[in-house]
Amino acid sequence: MIIGVLKEPEFESRVSLLPEAVKILDKLKTKLIVEKGAGKSAMALDDEYSSAGAQIVSRQEVIEKSDVLLSINPPEKDTIVHFKKGQVIISVFNPLADKELVDGMLKTDQTYFSMDLIPRTSRGQAMDILSSMATVAGYKAVLDAAMRLPNFFPMFMTAAGTIRPAKMLILGAGVAGLQAVAIARKLGAVVEVFDVRSAVKEQVQSLGGKFIEVEGAKEDEAAGGYAVEQTENFIKKQKQLIHDHAISSNVVICTAQIPGKKAPLLIEKTTVDAMKPGSVIIDLAASTGGNCAYTENDKDVDINGVTIVGNSTYPSEMPNDASRMYGNNLVNFLKLLISEDGGLVLDFEDEIVKGTCMIHNNEIVSDRLLYTLKNK
Ligand code: NAI
Repeated sequence: MIIGVLKEPEFESRVSLLPEAVKILDKLKTKLIVEKGAGKSAMALDDEYSSAGAQIVSRQEVIEKSDVLLSINPPEKDTIVHFKKGQVIISVFNPLADKELVDGMLKTDQTYFSMDLIPRTSRGQAMDILSSMATVAGYKAVLDAAMRLPNFFPMFMTAAGTIRPAKMLILGAGVAGLQAVAIARKLGAVVEVFDVRSAVKEQVQSLGGKFIEVEGAKEDEAAGGYAVEQTENFIKKQKQLIHDHAISSNVVICTAQIPGKKAPLLIEKTTVDAMKPGSVIIDLAASTGGNCAYTENDKDVDINGVTIVGNSTYPSEMPNDASRMYGNNLVNFLKLLISEDGGLVLDFEDEIVKGTCMIHNNEIVSDRLLYTLKNK
Protein backbone atom coordinates (compact mmCIF):
# COMPACT_ATOMS: atom_id res chain seq x y z
CA MET A 1 0.00 0.00 0.00
CA ILE A 2 1.13 3.54 -0.70
CA ILE A 3 0.86 6.14 2.05
CA GLY A 4 0.98 9.80 0.97
CA VAL A 5 1.85 12.88 3.03
CA LEU A 6 0.13 16.09 1.92
CA LYS A 7 1.71 19.52 2.40
CA GLU A 8 -0.26 21.52 4.97
CA PRO A 9 -1.86 24.92 4.20
CA GLU A 10 0.26 28.09 4.35
CA PHE A 11 -0.67 28.95 7.99
CA GLU A 12 0.49 25.55 9.31
CA SER A 13 4.13 24.75 10.13
CA ARG A 14 3.69 21.12 11.16
CA VAL A 15 3.76 18.06 8.92
CA SER A 16 1.95 14.78 9.60
CA LEU A 17 5.08 12.56 9.35
CA LEU A 18 8.77 13.41 9.77
CA PRO A 19 11.47 11.54 7.78
CA GLU A 20 12.13 9.29 10.80
CA ALA A 21 8.78 7.58 10.12
CA VAL A 22 9.88 6.36 6.68
CA LYS A 23 11.97 3.44 7.96
CA ILE A 24 9.19 2.25 10.27
CA LEU A 25 6.67 2.25 7.44
CA ASP A 26 9.19 0.53 5.18
CA LYS A 27 9.53 -2.30 7.73
CA LEU A 28 5.74 -2.61 7.65
CA LYS A 29 6.07 -3.22 3.88
CA THR A 30 4.37 0.01 2.86
CA LYS A 31 5.73 2.77 0.64
CA LEU A 32 5.75 6.48 1.58
CA ILE A 33 5.38 9.32 -0.91
CA VAL A 34 5.64 12.94 0.23
CA GLU A 35 4.44 16.16 -1.41
CA LYS A 36 7.36 18.40 -2.35
CA GLY A 37 8.23 20.83 0.47
CA ALA A 38 5.75 19.22 2.91
CA GLY A 39 8.16 19.15 5.84
CA LYS A 40 10.11 22.35 5.19
CA SER A 41 8.49 24.52 7.87
CA ALA A 42 8.82 21.65 10.37
CA MET A 43 12.59 21.57 9.68
CA ALA A 44 12.33 18.37 7.60
CA LEU A 45 13.78 18.82 4.12
CA ASP A 46 12.87 16.84 1.01
CA ASP A 47 16.41 15.38 0.93
CA GLU A 48 15.94 13.86 4.37
CA TYR A 49 12.74 12.12 3.29
CA SER A 50 14.48 10.90 0.10
CA SER A 51 17.55 9.56 1.88
CA ALA A 52 15.26 7.72 4.32
CA GLY A 53 13.64 6.02 1.30
CA ALA A 54 10.54 8.10 0.56
CA GLN A 55 9.72 9.50 -2.84
CA ILE A 56 9.15 13.25 -3.26
CA VAL A 57 6.33 13.98 -5.72
CA SER A 58 3.87 16.70 -6.73
CA ARG A 59 0.57 17.25 -4.87
CA GLN A 60 -1.34 15.80 -7.79
CA GLU A 61 0.77 12.63 -7.71
CA VAL A 62 0.32 12.20 -3.96
CA ILE A 63 -3.44 12.37 -4.43
CA GLU A 64 -3.48 10.07 -7.47
CA LYS A 65 -1.11 7.37 -6.19
CA SER A 66 -1.87 7.06 -2.48
CA ASP A 67 -4.13 4.45 -0.93
CA VAL A 68 -3.97 6.35 2.35
CA LEU A 69 -3.59 10.14 2.49
CA LEU A 70 -2.26 11.91 5.58
CA SER A 71 -2.59 15.50 6.74
CA ILE A 72 -3.12 17.44 9.96
CA ASN A 73 -5.47 20.14 8.69
CA PRO A 74 -8.44 18.78 6.72
CA PRO A 75 -7.80 18.99 2.97
CA GLU A 76 -9.58 21.90 1.27
CA LYS A 77 -12.61 21.29 -0.96
CA ASP A 78 -10.54 21.82 -4.13
CA THR A 79 -8.32 18.91 -3.04
CA ILE A 80 -11.16 16.65 -1.89
CA VAL A 81 -12.81 16.72 -5.33
CA HIS A 82 -9.76 14.88 -6.74
CA PHE A 83 -9.84 12.04 -4.21
CA LYS A 84 -10.34 8.54 -5.58
CA LYS A 85 -13.18 6.20 -4.73
CA GLY A 86 -12.22 4.01 -1.75
CA GLN A 87 -9.24 6.17 -0.76
CA VAL A 88 -8.59 6.49 2.98
CA ILE A 89 -7.98 9.98 4.38
CA ILE A 90 -6.58 10.46 7.88
CA SER A 91 -6.61 14.01 9.24
CA VAL A 92 -8.02 16.09 12.12
CA PHE A 93 -11.55 17.03 11.04
CA ASN A 94 -13.01 18.16 14.40
CA PRO A 95 -16.27 16.39 13.42
CA LEU A 96 -17.87 16.56 16.89
CA ALA A 97 -18.22 20.31 16.41
CA ASP A 98 -18.85 20.40 12.66
CA LYS A 99 -22.01 18.59 11.61
CA GLU A 100 -22.06 20.33 8.22
CA LEU A 101 -18.61 19.01 7.34
CA VAL A 102 -19.66 15.45 8.21
CA ASP A 103 -22.88 15.76 6.19
CA GLY A 104 -20.90 17.03 3.20
CA MET A 105 -18.57 14.02 3.31
CA LEU A 106 -21.28 11.40 3.50
CA LYS A 107 -21.65 11.04 -0.27
CA THR A 108 -18.01 11.11 -1.29
CA ASP A 109 -17.16 7.35 -1.43
CA GLN A 110 -13.99 7.74 0.64
CA THR A 111 -13.15 6.48 4.12
CA TYR A 112 -12.34 9.23 6.62
CA PHE A 113 -10.53 8.80 9.93
CA SER A 114 -10.30 11.77 12.30
CA MET A 115 -7.37 11.54 14.71
CA ASP A 116 -9.19 13.70 17.27
CA LEU A 117 -11.67 10.82 17.74
CA ILE A 118 -9.04 8.38 19.07
CA PRO A 119 -10.70 6.92 22.19
CA ARG A 120 -9.04 8.09 25.45
CA THR A 121 -8.35 4.54 26.67
CA SER A 122 -5.03 3.13 27.89
CA ARG A 123 -4.55 1.38 24.54
CA GLY A 124 -5.39 4.60 22.69
CA GLN A 125 -2.82 6.67 24.60
CA ALA A 126 -0.01 6.00 22.13
CA MET A 127 -2.20 7.42 19.33
CA ASP A 128 -3.83 10.30 21.21
CA ILE A 129 -2.92 13.37 19.18
CA LEU A 130 -5.14 15.65 21.30
CA SER A 131 -3.02 14.81 24.34
CA SER A 132 0.17 15.33 22.36
CA MET A 133 -0.88 18.73 21.04
CA ALA A 134 -2.25 19.77 24.45
CA THR A 135 1.15 18.92 25.92
CA VAL A 136 2.78 21.34 23.47
CA ALA A 137 0.12 23.98 24.14
CA GLY A 138 0.44 23.73 27.94
CA TYR A 139 4.22 24.13 27.69
CA LYS A 140 4.09 27.03 25.22
CA ALA A 141 1.32 28.81 27.15
CA VAL A 142 3.54 29.12 30.22
CA LEU A 143 6.55 30.30 28.19
CA ASP A 144 4.36 32.82 26.34
CA ALA A 145 3.02 34.14 29.66
CA ALA A 146 6.56 34.39 31.07
CA MET A 147 7.70 36.45 28.06
CA ARG A 148 4.76 38.85 28.32
CA LEU A 149 4.67 39.32 32.10
CA PRO A 150 6.45 42.45 33.36
CA ASN A 151 7.62 40.41 36.37
CA PHE A 152 9.85 37.43 37.13
CA PHE A 153 8.32 33.98 37.66
CA PRO A 154 10.74 32.82 40.42
CA MET A 155 11.43 34.44 43.75
CA PHE A 156 14.75 36.30 43.81
CA MET A 157 16.67 37.42 46.87
CA THR A 158 19.14 39.95 45.57
CA ALA A 159 21.17 42.88 46.82
CA ALA A 160 18.46 45.02 45.21
CA GLY A 161 15.85 43.45 47.46
CA THR A 162 13.53 40.47 47.41
CA ILE A 163 11.39 39.83 44.36
CA ARG A 164 8.21 37.88 45.09
CA PRO A 165 7.37 34.92 42.84
CA ALA A 166 4.62 35.28 40.24
CA LYS A 167 1.22 33.82 41.11
CA MET A 168 -0.47 31.68 38.50
CA LEU A 169 -4.01 30.32 38.35
CA ILE A 170 -4.64 27.38 36.01
CA LEU A 171 -8.21 26.51 35.07
CA GLY A 172 -8.64 22.89 34.02
CA ALA A 173 -6.14 20.17 34.93
CA GLY A 174 -6.32 17.90 31.90
CA VAL A 175 -3.31 17.30 29.69
CA ALA A 176 -2.58 20.97 28.88
CA GLY A 177 -3.30 22.16 32.42
CA LEU A 178 -1.05 19.58 34.10
CA GLN A 179 1.76 20.30 31.64
CA ALA A 180 1.36 24.01 32.45
CA VAL A 181 1.56 23.27 36.20
CA ALA A 182 4.79 21.31 35.71
CA ILE A 183 6.51 23.98 33.59
CA ALA A 184 5.31 26.93 35.73
CA ARG A 185 6.59 25.21 38.87
CA LYS A 186 9.95 24.58 37.19
CA LEU A 187 10.14 28.29 36.43
CA GLY A 188 9.41 29.08 40.08
CA ALA A 189 5.84 30.43 39.95
CA VAL A 190 3.36 29.76 42.74
CA VAL A 191 0.56 27.77 41.12
CA GLU A 192 -3.11 27.31 42.01
CA VAL A 193 -5.35 25.01 40.00
CA PHE A 194 -9.10 24.64 39.66
CA ASP A 195 -10.93 21.73 38.01
CA VAL A 196 -14.39 20.21 38.37
CA ARG A 197 -12.92 16.70 38.46
CA SER A 198 -11.67 15.98 41.98
CA ALA A 199 -9.73 12.98 40.60
CA VAL A 200 -7.00 15.37 39.40
CA LYS A 201 -6.36 16.86 42.86
CA GLU A 202 -3.54 14.43 43.70
CA GLN A 203 -1.90 14.88 40.29
CA VAL A 204 -1.91 18.67 40.74
CA GLN A 205 -0.44 18.36 44.22
CA SER A 206 2.25 15.90 43.10
CA LEU A 207 3.43 18.51 40.57
CA GLY A 208 3.65 21.16 43.29
CA GLY A 209 0.38 23.01 42.56
CA LYS A 210 -2.32 23.92 45.10
CA PHE A 211 -5.76 22.54 44.24
CA ILE A 212 -8.66 24.92 44.95
CA GLU A 213 -12.15 23.48 44.85
CA VAL A 214 -15.89 24.02 45.10
CA GLU A 215 -17.93 21.29 46.80
CA GLY A 216 -20.64 19.47 44.84
CA ALA A 217 -19.21 19.08 41.31
CA LYS A 218 -21.10 16.70 39.00
CA GLU A 219 -18.78 13.95 37.82
CA ASP A 220 -19.48 11.11 35.42
CA GLU A 221 -17.29 8.02 35.32
CA ALA A 222 -18.89 7.10 31.98
CA ALA A 223 -17.53 10.30 30.38
CA GLY A 224 -14.17 8.55 29.91
CA GLY A 225 -11.96 10.98 31.83
CA TYR A 226 -13.67 14.07 30.45
CA ALA A 227 -15.70 16.66 32.38
CA VAL A 228 -19.50 16.95 32.18
CA GLU A 229 -21.71 20.05 32.32
CA GLN A 230 -22.36 21.48 35.81
CA THR A 231 -25.48 22.75 37.67
CA GLU A 232 -26.31 26.48 37.79
CA ASN A 233 -25.67 26.72 41.53
CA PHE A 234 -22.25 25.09 41.16
CA ILE A 235 -21.35 27.44 38.30
CA LYS A 236 -22.22 30.49 40.45
CA LYS A 237 -20.02 29.32 43.34
CA GLN A 238 -17.27 28.39 40.92
CA LYS A 239 -17.26 31.84 39.29
CA GLN A 240 -16.90 33.53 42.69
CA LEU A 241 -13.99 31.25 43.65
CA ILE A 242 -12.26 31.90 40.34
CA HIS A 243 -12.88 35.66 40.65
CA ASP A 244 -11.28 35.75 44.11
CA HIS A 245 -8.19 33.83 43.00
CA ALA A 246 -7.80 35.45 39.57
CA ILE A 247 -7.66 39.01 40.87
CA SER A 248 -4.62 38.18 43.00
CA SER A 249 -2.85 36.29 40.18
CA ASN A 250 -0.29 37.61 37.69
CA VAL A 251 -1.08 34.90 35.15
CA VAL A 252 -4.20 32.86 34.41
CA ILE A 253 -3.99 29.91 32.03
CA CYS A 254 -7.36 28.68 30.80
CA THR A 255 -7.63 25.09 29.57
CA ALA A 256 -11.16 24.05 30.61
CA GLN A 257 -13.11 22.18 27.97
CA ILE A 258 -15.92 19.69 27.50
CA PRO A 259 -15.37 17.87 24.19
CA GLY A 260 -17.84 18.73 21.43
CA LYS A 261 -19.31 21.64 23.44
CA LYS A 262 -18.62 25.37 23.70
CA ALA A 263 -15.89 26.02 26.28
CA PRO A 264 -17.29 26.87 29.75
CA LEU A 265 -17.18 30.59 30.56
CA LEU A 266 -15.18 30.81 33.79
CA ILE A 267 -13.78 34.37 33.83
CA GLU A 268 -16.33 37.15 33.62
CA LYS A 269 -15.51 40.63 32.28
CA THR A 270 -15.85 42.02 35.84
CA THR A 271 -13.06 39.67 36.97
CA VAL A 272 -10.70 40.89 34.23
CA ASP A 273 -11.64 44.50 35.03
CA ALA A 274 -10.53 43.89 38.64
CA MET A 275 -7.19 42.27 37.72
CA LYS A 276 -3.85 44.10 38.10
CA PRO A 277 -2.47 45.87 34.97
CA GLY A 278 0.36 43.77 33.51
CA SER A 279 -1.47 40.49 34.25
CA VAL A 280 -1.70 37.96 31.45
CA ILE A 281 -4.50 35.54 30.60
CA ILE A 282 -3.62 32.78 28.14
CA ASP A 283 -6.85 31.20 26.92
CA LEU A 284 -6.07 27.86 25.28
CA ALA A 285 -9.79 27.21 24.78
CA ALA A 286 -10.11 30.23 22.44
CA SER A 287 -11.04 28.18 19.36
CA THR A 288 -14.17 26.87 21.12
CA GLY A 289 -15.26 30.25 22.50
CA GLY A 290 -12.73 30.63 25.33
CA ASN A 291 -12.98 30.41 29.12
CA CYS A 292 -12.69 34.20 29.41
CA ALA A 293 -15.45 36.61 28.34
CA TYR A 294 -12.97 38.96 26.59
CA THR A 295 -11.18 36.23 24.58
CA GLU A 296 -11.01 36.59 20.80
CA ASN A 297 -9.71 33.62 18.82
CA ASP A 298 -6.21 34.12 17.44
CA LYS A 299 -6.02 37.68 18.79
CA ASP A 300 -4.45 39.52 21.72
CA VAL A 301 -6.89 41.77 23.58
CA ASP A 302 -5.79 44.52 25.99
CA ILE A 303 -8.22 45.50 28.76
CA ASN A 304 -6.75 48.26 30.96
CA GLY A 305 -3.29 46.68 30.80
CA VAL A 306 -4.47 43.08 31.20
CA THR A 307 -3.54 41.05 28.10
CA ILE A 308 -5.87 38.23 27.04
CA VAL A 309 -4.15 35.94 24.54
CA GLY A 310 -6.42 33.78 22.34
CA ASN A 311 -3.67 31.86 20.53
CA SER A 312 -5.00 28.59 19.04
CA THR A 313 -1.89 27.65 17.12
CA TYR A 314 0.75 26.91 19.75
CA PRO A 315 1.60 23.44 18.33
CA SER A 316 2.33 25.07 14.97
CA GLU A 317 4.77 27.41 16.75
CA MET A 318 6.86 24.42 17.86
CA PRO A 319 6.61 22.51 14.58
CA ASN A 320 9.47 20.04 14.85
CA ASP A 321 8.61 18.32 18.13
CA ALA A 322 4.87 18.84 17.58
CA SER A 323 5.20 17.01 14.22
CA ARG A 324 7.31 14.32 15.89
CA MET A 325 4.59 13.68 18.49
CA TYR A 326 1.79 13.81 15.89
CA GLY A 327 3.77 11.47 13.60
CA ASN A 328 4.49 8.96 16.36
CA ASN A 329 0.78 8.87 17.24
CA LEU A 330 -0.11 8.49 13.58
CA VAL A 331 2.37 5.64 12.95
CA ASN A 332 0.94 3.79 15.98
CA PHE A 333 -2.53 4.23 14.52
CA LEU A 334 -1.44 3.23 10.99
CA LYS A 335 -0.12 -0.06 12.40
CA LEU A 336 -3.77 -1.00 13.07
CA LEU A 337 -4.59 -0.49 9.37
CA ILE A 338 -1.66 -2.37 7.84
CA SER A 339 -1.83 -6.12 7.20
CA GLU A 340 1.20 -8.44 7.51
CA ASP A 341 1.96 -8.14 3.79
CA GLY A 342 1.72 -4.32 3.84
CA GLY A 343 -1.86 -4.11 2.54
CA LEU A 344 -4.76 -2.05 3.87
CA VAL A 345 -7.04 -3.70 6.42
CA LEU A 346 -10.06 -2.00 8.01
CA ASP A 347 -11.01 -4.02 11.09
CA PHE A 348 -14.08 -2.34 12.54
CA GLU A 349 -14.15 -4.96 15.31
CA ASP A 350 -11.19 -3.06 16.75
CA GLU A 351 -12.58 -0.38 19.11
CA ILE A 352 -9.88 2.14 18.13
CA VAL A 353 -10.36 1.69 14.39
CA LYS A 354 -14.14 1.93 14.78
CA GLY A 355 -14.00 4.79 17.28
CA THR A 356 -11.71 6.88 15.04
CA CYS A 357 -13.54 6.27 11.78
CA MET A 358 -15.81 9.14 10.79
CA ILE A 359 -17.16 7.72 7.56
CA HIS A 360 -16.92 4.40 5.68
CA ASN A 361 -19.25 3.22 2.88
CA ASN A 362 -20.88 6.66 3.10
CA GLU A 363 -22.03 6.02 6.68
CA ILE A 364 -20.90 7.41 10.03
CA VAL A 365 -18.98 4.70 11.90
CA SER A 366 -17.85 6.12 15.26
CA ASP A 367 -20.57 5.63 17.93
CA ARG A 368 -19.37 8.74 19.78
CA LEU A 369 -19.71 10.84 16.64
CA LEU A 370 -23.16 9.39 15.86
CA TYR A 371 -24.34 10.07 19.42
CA THR A 372 -22.94 13.62 19.52
CA LEU A 373 -24.39 14.64 16.15
CA LYS A 374 -27.80 13.15 17.02
CA ASN A 375 -27.91 15.17 20.25
CA LYS A 376 -26.79 18.48 18.73
P1 NAI B 1 -8.71 17.90 28.66
O1 NAI B 1 -10.09 17.47 28.34
O2 NAI B 1 -7.64 16.89 28.93
O3 NAI B 1 -8.75 18.87 29.95
C1 NAI B 1 -9.72 19.84 30.14
C2 NAI B 1 -9.92 19.96 31.63
O4 NAI B 1 -10.90 20.98 31.85
C3 NAI B 1 -10.47 18.68 32.26
O5 NAI B 1 -9.63 18.27 33.32
C4 NAI B 1 -11.85 19.08 32.74
O6 NAI B 1 -12.24 18.41 33.92
C5 NAI B 1 -11.67 20.58 32.95
N1 NAI B 1 -12.94 21.31 32.99
C6 NAI B 1 -14.03 21.17 32.21
N2 NAI B 1 -15.00 22.04 32.57
C7 NAI B 1 -14.50 22.75 33.61
C8 NAI B 1 -15.00 23.79 34.41
N3 NAI B 1 -16.22 24.27 34.23
N4 NAI B 1 -14.20 24.30 35.37
C9 NAI B 1 -12.95 23.82 35.56
N5 NAI B 1 -12.41 22.83 34.84
C10 NAI B 1 -13.18 22.30 33.87
O7 NAI B 1 -8.26 18.92 27.54
P2 NAI B 1 -6.77 19.25 27.07
O8 NAI B 1 -6.36 18.20 26.12
O9 NAI B 1 -5.92 19.53 28.24
O10 NAI B 1 -7.01 20.59 26.26
C11 NAI B 1 -7.31 21.80 26.95
C12 NAI B 1 -7.68 22.90 26.00
O11 NAI B 1 -6.55 23.26 25.23
C13 NAI B 1 -8.78 22.53 25.01
O12 NAI B 1 -9.69 23.60 24.90
C14 NAI B 1 -8.04 22.33 23.71
O13 NAI B 1 -8.85 22.56 22.60
C15 NAI B 1 -6.98 23.37 23.88
N6 NAI B 1 -5.81 23.27 23.02
C16 NAI B 1 -5.33 24.45 22.58
C17 NAI B 1 -4.26 24.51 21.77
C18 NAI B 1 -3.76 25.87 21.38
O14 NAI B 1 -2.84 25.99 20.58
N7 NAI B 1 -4.33 26.93 21.91
C19 NAI B 1 -3.59 23.29 21.28
C20 NAI B 1 -4.12 22.08 21.86
C21 NAI B 1 -5.21 22.08 22.70
